[in-house]
Amino acid sequence: MKKIIIDCDPGIDDALALIFAIKSTKLNVIGITICAGNVPVELGAINAYKVLKLLGREDIPIYCGDNLPIKRELITAQDTHGIDGLGEILQEIELPENIIKGNAIDYILKTLNEDDQISIIALGPLTNLAKVVKQDSNVLNKAKKIISMGGAFQTNGNCSQVAEFNYWVDPESVNIVFENVKTPIHLIPLDVTRKIVLTPNYREYLKQMNNPISIFIYNITNFYVDFHWKQEKILGCVINDPLVIGYLLDETLCEGFLSHLECVEDGKAIGQSLIDVGGFYNRNNNVHINTKVNQKKFFELFFNTIFPENIKTNTIVLEGY
Ligand code: BDR
Ligand code: CA
Repeated sequence: MKKIIIDCDPGIDDALALIFAIKSTKLNVIGITICAGNVPVELGAINAYKVLKLLGREDIPIYCGDNLPIKRELITAQDTHGIDGLGEILQEIELPENIIKGNAIDYILKTLNEDDQISIIALGPLTNLAKVVKQDSNVLNKAKKIISMGGAFQTNGNCSQVAEFNYWVDPESVNIVFENVKTPIHLIPLDVTRKIVLTPNYREYLKQMNNPISIFIYNITNFYVDFHWKQEKILGCVINDPLVIGYLLDETLCEGFLSHLECVEDGKAIGQSLIDVGGFYNRNNNVHINTKVNQKKFFELFFNTIFPENIKTNTIVLEGY
């Protein structure tokens, strides 16, 4: 089993990624660290806990990072994910008092120093990872692999013409992290995640399956679907973060190339991820950017991992998505 720490800001699609990873028999989620992003950290922690409770996995520890990006105010995405971050399904659950087990930065530092077999899965702004680097500039190099959802290469952004949310929220952190890695970070940008659309057909299948996990996914994505219609005039919703888990499980889902990434910190293009395709600046390769994805293969893996009991029916549904 691959050991992973998931650094996230749940978030509807983060919640789906957590479900995907935790249900996988090939992954061992040893800890969840929360960064500020879609929602403030405390709300993110509550949402992560809701997912753990749904899956009966309250044993997985949750750690919280700081509530502010490294240099600026936090701008959340509650317009996209709902005021509660989980599509405003108003799911009331009993929260035990101590759902937060400690500080995210300390936890990541300690864990990476003790074990060189841990991969970091970053599904939100890179604030926590940048703070880790500030304390120990070499520690991220001890991670087995780092995969980040963020940036936009040859597609428009979702916060401005050019900027993707995670990198736009905290661009300075992006640069701190990318400048300090010796092994390229695997990037899952909007170019590939935009192809991962949970269509009305898939959602109907979730509804018909009628089990607690499928109904949870159906319900939390309802708000997301309305947002996507208003914003992008598409039917269904783009689920970005689960593609990172899919890629970790099967790298052949995506294709890309090595390059150098730098993030714009000021001005109109703030948050833009600049990829030096032409090698103009002769910098080191710090990113493996993915630009192609096999979405059908992704959804097969996604559904078959979360609902292994339905593999036969899933195959039928996946034929005609
Ligand atoms: C990213 O921003 C967030 O809203 C999503 O959770 C995802 O990580 C997509 O731009
Ligand atoms: Ca996220």
